Amino acid sequence: MHLSARRRGLAGSRLKAGMTTAKWERETTMQDILEKLEARRAEARLGGGQKRIDAQHGKGKLTARERLDVLLDEGSFEEYDMYKAHRCADFGMETQQFPGDGVVTGWGTINGRPTYVFSQDFTVFGGSLSETHAEKICKIMDLAMQNGVPVIGLNDSGGARIQEGVASLGGYAEVFWRNVQASGVIPQISVIMGPCAGGAVYSPAMTDFIYMVKDTSYMFVTGPDVVKTVTNEIVSAEELGGASTHTKKSSVADGAFENDVEALIEIRRMFDFLPLSSREKPPVLPTADRPDRIEMALDTIIPDNPNKPYDMHEVIARIADEADFFEVQKDHAKNILCGFIRLNGSTVGVVANQPMVLAGCLDIDSAKKAGRFVRFCDAFNIPILTLVDVPGFLPGTAQEYGGIIKHGAKLLFAYAEATVPKVTVITRKAYGGAYDVMSSKHIRADVNYAWPTAQIAVMGAKGATEILYRSELGDPDKIAARTKEYEDNFANPFKAAERGFIDEVIMPHSTRRRVIRAFEMLKTKDVQPPKKKHDNIPL
Ligand code: HXC
Repeated sequence: MHLSARRRGLAGSRLKAGMTTAKWERETTMQDILEKLEARRAEARLGGGQKRIDAQHGKGKLTARERLDVLLDEGSFEEYDMYKAHRCADFGMETQQFPGDGVVTGWGTINGRPTYVFSQDFTVFGGSLSETHAEKICKIMDLAMQNGVPVIGLNDSGGARIQEGVASLGGYAEVFWRNVQASGVIPQISVIMGPCAGGAVYSPAMTDFIYMVKDTSYMFVTGPDVVKTVTNEIVSAEELGGASTHTKKSSVADGAFENDVEALIEIRRMFDFLPLSSREKPPVLPTADRPDRIEMALDTIIPDNPNKPYDMHEVIARIADEADFFEVQKDHAKNILCGFIRLNGSTVGVVANQPMVLAGCLDIDSAKKAGRFVRFCDAFNIPILTLVDVPGFLPGTAQEYGGIIKHGAKLLFAYAEATVPKVTVITRKAYGGAYDVMSSKHIRADVNYAWPTAQIAVMGAKGATEILYRSELGDPDKIAARTKEYEDNFANPFKAAERGFIDEVIMPHSTRRRVIRAFEMLKTKDVQPPKKKHDNIPL
């Protein structure tokens, strides 16, 4: 190897300075080695080559490494297995080697807190999963479990590496098995940033949260061509499994973002709410928002007409630190709101009926959505605040045939098994079975508050009088008097408070202060569930 002019100059000056030739040769060799290492690194960083990187950019997508640059704190990424190579010798694969084999793995930090990451590189065999690609993911998952640190997966893959056959399928299953072992131990977050087809969807499906990028990502078990062959349906990839489909219809995804950068920045925001593992309490972020802040607007937020809606988002915003609410599944089952807030710096999961949609009724979708969220919070020591304004379960054949009995039970089950601190505030209606389900005292909420506007009863006044006084239905005056009598008796929180089912009827304006103090008191809560292998939630 010839020496560059700069190094020849350096050599001359070192010899002049009295360095021995042997020492200089040793250093030169070391210099070569370092340069070779740098060259190998540069080659690996190029993935499938500049042409494919340009094609990736042309689709509006970042490369695997660029994504990690956005997700992680600057300079924090420690890469593993950069040179790992596939072992496939079929279909001429032995001549096609790309260092790293289509996935970038390692760990880094988000606002100083660690996370393991993998980022699939679409420029290498379309990010397809080979046996060695899977081994790299498994390695960081094993370390994440051992060290009690989350895993964030950035998915952009054509699925199983077709040339590898069953070796690839085995690789997937190794990842699946680890997803299940890690469930409830470390948070697992999937971001779908490109195709995700076939069995590849099942690893994300077993993680805690799935986020998608609009227009560039899709997920389906079988693609549009197979659908057409089998069912004669003609459907585009976007319609079948794009972000809109999965955030609105199927609820497979928890949210969708406009582009790669927005998605990764929002994942950073969400990460800040979560503990690193089930061994930890959630993080506490200093806040300038006073814990005793009074919100007079809450005193007038409930409309005079009980059938008029109001936006529960506003109640949440006025209670939360700095009005910051990270909402989960915001485009699906909008009759219930789920997400994370902070109260005096500490993460709290919020579940709230939304009177603006379906009058806040519980139905199949909302029960499934909230049930899963409650279980996530419970698994990761995140206390739960429940805001209740629920007129009951949604009636009808669609709900009954769809299995509302089983699906509604999911939310009931989730609340009843949750041992984290649970504080409930009934703002208005809490009717029938839905009263029981929405973190009532009876299923072991710790602190149950009601606003003076709360109505805790088997049903609304109109429905109740029509059943109780059917014979008087022809006389509107009598019915009006009966309705008034029922309202006076039951359309308030005091019957429940007299029994101790409500601990205190609070001023709406002091809700933030009251729930912060309640959670403060519950910090030392210690409830052990009965010993069992695992429960049998109605799936
Ligand atoms: C090997 C693959 C690949 C795969 C794509 N490539 N998918 N290589 N195995 N599964 C390669 C292509 O050959 C191409 O190589 C490069 O990746 C980019 O692919 P393109 O087709 O040019 O890109 P694009 O037009 O954007 O289409 C992307 C795609 C399409 C929609 C993902 O490639 C596709 O349909 N791939 C096959 C998807 C699939 O059926 N996978 C198996 C699913 S079954 P070059 O050299 O040209 O860059 C499955 C079972 C798992 O995953 C079961 C687990 C239990």
